[in-house]
Amino acid sequence: MKNGVDAEQQSTRAGTTNETASPARRWQKYAQISGWGMYVPHQVVPNERFVELGLDTSNEWIATRTGIERRRVVGDHEATSDMAVRAAKDALRVADMHPNELDLILIATCTPDHIMPSTAALVQDRLGAKNAGAMDLNAACAGFVYALSTGVSYIESGRAKNVLVVGADELSTHLDWKDRSTCVLFGDGAGAVVLHASDEPGVMATTMGSDGSGAGLLTIKAGSRNRQHGARHKNNGKNGTNGAPAMSDDYYLRMNGPQVFRWATQMMARAAEKVITSSGLTVGQVDLFIPHQANARILETTARRLGVPIEKVFSNLKDYGNTSAASIPIALCEAIQSGRVKAGDNLVLASFGAGLTWAALAMRWGVAVDMQVSRWKPLGRGVEERVAAVRSVSRRLGWRVRGEIDKRFRKDDDGK
Ligand code: ACO
Repeated sequence: MKNGVDAEQQSTRAGTTNETASPARRWQKYAQISGWGMYVPHQVVPNERFVELGLDTSNEWIATRTGIERRRVVGDHEATSDMAVRAAKDALRVADMHPNELDLILIATCTPDHIMPSTAALVQDRLGAKNAGAMDLNAACAGFVYALSTGVSYIESGRAKNVLVVGADELSTHLDWKDRSTCVLFGDGAGAVVLHASDEPGVMATTMGSDGSGAGLLTIKAGSRNRQHGARHKNNGKNGTNGAPAMSDDYYLRMNGPQVFRWATQMMARAAEKVITSSGLTVGQVDLFIPHQANARILETTARRLGVPIEKVFSNLKDYGNTSAASIPIALCEAIQSGRVKAGDNLVLASFGAGLTWAALAMRWGVAVDMQVSRWKPLGRGVEERVAAVRSVSRRLGWRVRGEIDKRFRKDDDGK
């Protein structure tokens, strides 16, 4: 791909070409989504709130220029891992899968709870997924499709059978609530899917790319290279305007909106086109297009470029704004809940984000979406969740006890 690094992988077993052409085609299985879940925080911030905060804006400007009417933001004690766990539990419930069956947990986020440990490790512990590897992946708003592609590769290569992929972000904690060109755009949330190895398709094609020359267009600069951060304060409009000390500028999200806008409309269309072609589909065969929910005008322009009628483009922007890595899995969940996805449908996901990064994926939806959950299952899940909580507490206690024992023995050794 021009001006970028393009890492493409494609699995075209879905009755298309290249069946035996590539020596790399040693996989046996398709990756299929068998569970899905989402979580959004309770606190709703309508557009009018920005006017109340004294910003020179209006509900009308925000709604017509972005398509956003309201967004959800986290409470003071809600972290990315909290949202991720809730979405993940729902996804496991729908997949009817015990957390022990997971081989890998991938969390796409650019707002992790900590620089280390990873948010994925925290989620692994809280789920009690004792057989799973866990890692975070940061490709900003494109992170979920990046993580999904990674999970797909683990399954297709036979290295994993079940992978939990979560997109979760709380960008509200990095917003400058005095900057009208950014703070009106973002919201918080999490979405999750369970990927499962299947003989039926499945994810058919993925593509991802990056162009770091555009890194300055969309940033939160804080990191080990920018050490003058000062304290981190929640700054989500509820407590960011009531005398709480301001955050260091490095913690704020800064963006060149118009440039990102122009680039995004080209990139999402190109990435989507690529996976449609790679999977042997035509644009007309796409049943539902789920793009990253950033701006309604970006969605419309992308759809026009692609030649996909707007009725086939899913959007829930008005309710949540741009939830970064969570936007596509939340949209997928709501598309399923609203009856827009049926077994056999061809779905295309496409995303873009800071980096700059972009990714797209084409899949044939393989499972019935109206699966009945047995009356007893919620009860069983409740027990499993309590077992996971007890396991977590006892293991943490174990680490402390071992630490104390170590200290005592070291003291004895030193005294000899
Ligand atoms: N209310 C009122 N006026 C506003 C607001 C606002 N909230 N925000 C900007 N304006 C003003 C600008 O100051 C400007 O005024 P001026 O002409 O007096 O200078 C005017 O509106 C037009 O500004 P533009 O920036 O040209 O407005 P545009 O129509 O491009 O919309 C927006 C701005 C919404 C930010 C748009 O550029 C956009 O959506 N860009 C893409 C952003 C995006 O998707 N980012 C997410 C990337 S994903 C990730 O990784 C996080």
